[in-house]
Amino acid sequence: ASTTEVDISKIEPGQAIKALFRRQPLFVRNLTPKEIAEADAVPLSELRDPQTLEERTKPGKTNWLITMGVCTHLGCTPLGAGPGEDRGPYGGYFCPCHGSAYDTAARIRKGPAPKNLEVPEYEFTSDTVVKVG
Ligand code: FES
Repeated sequence: ASTTEVDISKIEPGQAIKALFRRQPLFVRNLTPKEIAEADAVPLSELRDPQTLEERTKPGKTNWLITMGVCTHLGCTPLGAGPGEDRGPYGGYFCPCHGSAYDTAARIRKGPAPKNLEVPEYEFTSDTVVKVG
């Protein structure tokens, strides 16, 4: 299985980029403090696939949200990682295929998708490089 290295040095807070990991879209997002607070404010009991933002990120690097860009409904690529794209009603990602809306922790909040966007295996190899896979 191959790995992918992503340079995160140019991703400003509030921005995201799309990369490719094993031929599938990968989203790397630098969450703002407000987006982190929004994710932390949601009771787990409201979540279809209950997970905290902390469980979905690395200790001390809660702002780096790294997920597959593959909707867990039928596999479309959600909007929200590209510049100016619609992030949907929960401010994370929005899948235009059938209207699944993800929050700022990329957790499913509305629509037909059953699961949160998948967090792949990854590690920080420096402050500016993430190795995925
Ligand atoms: Fe995303 Fe159906 S594939 S909502």
